[in-house]
Amino acid sequence: MIDLAQLYGFHDRTVLVTGGGRGIGRAVCELFTAAGARVAVSDIDAAGAGAVAAMLPGAVAYPCDVSDEGSVTATTAQVVRDFGRLDAVVHVAAIFPKRDFLSMTAAQWDALHAVNTRGTFLVMREAIKAMKAGARGGAIVNVASTSGERASVTNNANYGASKAAVINLTRSMAIETAGDGIRINAVLPGGVATEGAKAATEQMKADGLSLGGPMTGPGRMPLGRVADPHEIAAACLFLAADAASYITGVSLPVDGGFLVS
Ligand SMILES: NC(=O)c1ccc[n+]([C@@H]2O[C@H](COP(=O)([O-])OP(=O)(O)OC[C@H]3O[C@@H](n4cnc5c(N)ncnc54)[C@H](O)[C@@H]3O)[C@@H](O)[C@H]2O)c1
Repeated sequence: MIDLAQLYGFHDRTVLVTGGGRGIGRAVCELFTAAGARVAVSDIDAAGAGAVAAMLPGAVAYPCDVSDEGSVTATTAQVVRDFGRLDAVVHVAAIFPKRDFLSMTAAQWDALHAVNTRGTFLVMREAIKAMKAGARGGAIVNVASTSGERASVTNNANYGASKAAVINLTRSMAIETAGDGIRINAVLPGGVATEGAKAATEQMKADGLSLGGPMTGPGRMPLGRVADPHEIAAACLFLAADAASYITGVSLPVDGGFLVS
């Protein structure tokens, strides 16, 4: 008899979600809680993480800056101490300011990579260490972007480079952790209706930049709309679940068909 709860459920499992305070991360926290997980909601926005944890049974908030080595190390260790185990990490936290490439400063370049690239390295490093120590295997899902595979919109080169790094870190470490039963995959959203996306678009307009590029062209979003955050969360749940037990190192587009258009 096939047991769907075993394939897709997370009963008695602990899942750490970075960037869980709003947007896609909040939807991930909601879906994993519905699937039975005890969720550690981490975010640099302590109030946001606290509000999400407060509405989810069993969830606990952890203020954490993924760009800060001490913060990531301490948070991961605290989650393991509090819950006794770490079964999955969904790494969602990132920033995506739109910048004109030619006027972008080195400090602006570095600030984005501190969060998106170094943050992914730190979150993965600490998660893998904790999972190896637990000796139960585990799953890591990195939320990257179609921008990491293909130029999608203009004024976004720095971000695209960081998400290409996330995709490559996913592949590199998938082969190095498979022997420990740790699977590492990435989800590549296209456009998603979130607070962060709205704020980035408004800031871009305030900076006098316009949104152009392939994703804005006619027919380039075959499903005809941007995603709801829960549609990204559903892919994260699948890749972290036992249903995906033979999947590692993949980058799954959840993009309404953009990459094949
Ligand atoms: N929204 C989209 O259209 C879209 C498209 C492709 C990929 N993505 C990716 O999806 C993920 C989530 O995007 P979103 O739209 O939900 O963004 P969002 O801005 O709405 O939420 C991001 C969360 O990450 C947190 N965060 C930011 N910097 C952090 C740090 N240094 N440490 C810890 N937490 C930090 C924020 O406080 C926020 O709660 C990101 O990785 C983003 O790159 C989003």
